Amino acid sequence: MATIPSDLSTRCALLLSKYESIRGFTDGLCEPLEIEDFVVQSMPDASPIRWHLAHTTWFFETFILKPFAKDYEPLDPMYEYLFNSYYNGIGEQFPRSKRGLLTRPTVAEVMIYRREIDNRMGQLLLEATPEEAMQIAPLVELGLHHEQQHQELMLTDLKHALAQNPFYPAYDTDVEQPTGKTTSQTWHEVDGGLVEIGHEAADFAYDNESPHHEALIPALEIAGRLVTNSEYRQFLEDGAYQRPELWLSLGWNTVQSEQWDAPLYWIRQNETWHEFTLSGLRPLNEASPVTHISYFEADAFARWQGSRLPTEFEWETASRLVPVEGNFAESHNFHPAPTQESEGLRQMLGDAWEWTTSSYAPYPGFKPPEGAIGEYNGKFMCQQYVLRGGSCATSRSHIRRTYRNFFPPEARWQFTGIRLAR
Ligand code: AVJ
Ligand code: FE
Repeated sequence: MATIPSDLSTRCALLLSKYESIRGFTDGLCEPLEIEDFVVQSMPDASPIRWHLAHTTWFFETFILKPFAKDYEPLDPMYEYLFNSYYNGIGEQFPRSKRGLLTRPTVAEVMIYRREIDNRMGQLLLEATPEEAMQIAPLVELGLHHEQQHQELMLTDLKHALAQNPFYPAYDTDVEQPTGKTTSQTWHEVDGGLVEIGHEAADFAYDNESPHHEALIPALEIAGRLVTNSEYRQFLEDGAYQRPELWLSLGWNTVQSEQWDAPLYWIRQNETWHEFTLSGLRPLNEASPVTHISYFEADAFARWQGSRLPTEFEWETASRLVPVEGNFAESHNFHPAPTQESEGLRQMLGDAWEWTTSSYAPYPGFKPPEGAIGEYNGKFMCQQYVLRGGSCATSRSHIRRTYRNFFPPEARWQFTGIRLAR
């Protein structure tokens, strides 16, 4: 009789320590910031840091404390509206594009909100009955992965805001720029046939990674490393942004309307290319993976190079050839790094998200959970592309080989890069 409750209480205690460390990582990301950095919104796709801090807190409050904590009284009833991102099942939302216009609640009040919800979550996890713990634990796990997604968004949104300043201030100057020589590209065989796709194990995964199923892939070759800045510069100098024949129609339209002539954050100064990083403006590192490019640019580069991008099924199969290791957020580098080796399949995980040609669509038999939480992933399965592998701003403890990130093809402000296939 004692075994089940004690297992569950161990699970809750473990979850609580995970909760404290992941919430603490978010606070740590804010350490280099000044108060002004918390409030700006540089574009509709990006959110103020203060909003991220409140919204992740709101997630625990809305999906765990309100339904499960006894006599729960919200700290402030306005928060339900202000910090709801997109859950229509919860209620109406304050418009996304106006998040930067709010100066109340203040940053200090949002910090108080965080600590208050942390205390309530700690209490709940320690006092939950076995029955409650069974229901709460998976939601806490989801809330923590949600927090980690927002940690990455905080870094990319912050980078976008800092890049608006013509003097390119650094987020953190302590970061050392990794060095490395440009290595030539290598190619690795991947067997074709029926392959296993999606999440199967008992550990956490998002709903969009299920059901586990089989897919057919052709025999292919996958590139050994990400496309480098040097290779992308050659593409650019070969007239990439002036040659419609290299682009998808929608991509060419976007090049024209947005007047793209280089990756986001490539800046020409004194006749040399620089790139804006979270540690400031730096001469373009030729050996580093190219990053902050759209699906359209990745696709055009592959066409120019004479190869193609992989499908998500090809990528997932190839990823099983390597361990889940790489340049992740834990290293506090926050920029893709050159590979140190010249052989083997490298940079599959970490460094930069890899665009695939797969539309973000449901796996056969996909069913989101009932209720508002079912809006988390499923309703975005239209007009977006799948990205795989995680980036330098993703936590190692957040990523999996089966993980499906997704963005519209014109998005450039995430740490996105190119892996070729043929
Ligand atoms: C998977 C990164 C596209 O940015 O909306 C955050 C992550 N989901 N809160 C997004 C997410 C819910 C999501 N992306
Ligand atoms: Fe969210």
